[in-house]
Amino acid sequence: MNQKFIRDFEPDETVVTFALIRGIWTRAKRGTGEEFLALELQDRTGTVEAKIWEVEDAMRELRSGDYVKIKARVDEYRGMPQLIIEKIRKVTDADRQQGFEESDCVPSTPYNIDEMWERLRMLVNREVNDPFVVQLLNNVLERTGDRFKCFPAAQEIHHGYRGGFLEHVLSVTENCVYFAGRYPEVDKSLLVAGGILHDIGKLEELTPAPAVEYTLQGRLVGHIILGRDLVRAEAAKIANFPQQTLLLIEHMILSHQGDYDWGSPKRPKILEALILHYLDDLDAKANHFQSVLRAHRGPGVFTNYDRILGRVLYKRPSASGERREPRDDEAIVDVSPPGEL
Ligand SMILES: [Fe+2]
Ligand SMILES: [Fe+2]
Repeated sequence: MNQKFIRDFEPDETVVTFALIRGIWTRAKRGTGEEFLALELQDRTGTVEAKIWEVEDAMRELRSGDYVKIKARVDEYRGMPQLIIEKIRKVTDADRQQGFEESDCVPSTPYNIDEMWERLRMLVNREVNDPFVVQLLNNVLERTGDRFKCFPAAQEIHHGYRGGFLEHVLSVTENCVYFAGRYPEVDKSLLVAGGILHDIGKLEELTPAPAVEYTLQGRLVGHIILGRDLVRAEAAKIANFPQQTLLLIEHMILSHQGDYDWGSPKRPKILEALILHYLDDLDAKANHFQSVLRAHRGPGVFTNYDRILGRVLYKRPSASGERREPRDDEAIVDVSPPGEL
């Protein structure tokens, strides 16, 4: 019997481990109509689907957000590991005294949060020339720092883990610095401000990890308008903040998703906003791409169909040679829905 993390589960083994319930649903067995429970569990290494076929009364009390200890057999379903739970109970104080830590169940950025924060703070002072924008950015970062460092960037699509917001913002902003140097027309202060502030409304749109959910404001207003309001309120506290600069920063936030269909009330009308939109989209897609490849643990070299990217991905052999070329029979396996290549 092993005590290990989700990423290391092997088919047919029995595991005893701790996890966080991300979702739990009552379902009916086909044929008999008897009820069973379907769960989505997570720890810091990933998520896994699980089933409870024999439902006991105490199990009906389990909810999303509960930390649990489980004993389960690792099965496989459609090429992915699935747990068949034999025993499950909520974590107790005794478990905590014996070393259980909630942080082991919360997926986190692989990077050092304090170091990323330091890089972002230094970037403001080094790359932004406009003193009003420097003050605005420093004020926003100071006021939101606690949430800025720990929030996810999204519920699940990209950077959906602790520290994911900071990781995404830093990555986009560092790319903004690079692209500001590529095009002489670009106002670097404006582009960097856009990088740092474009998603700031997410700090009010989402709740922090582990249970990342939309807030009421998030559902009813959304991060784009929440972000514009937050920045406008902060600028109002700075004496003589230039209205034209504020208007352009607001436009960067309002247009960063690029098009009406993607939730932007305005499309980019200045070069800085266009560049920000593409860098934001690139970083979100690249992060999602990497997480799909990382989550793939089936036998083939192609991932399952990913509905967000609308395709399967090829997990090519790495430079270290640890992965291999597809066998002939793998090359013809096509798990795409009809009409999809
Ligand atoms: Fe956004
Ligand atoms: Fe973003």
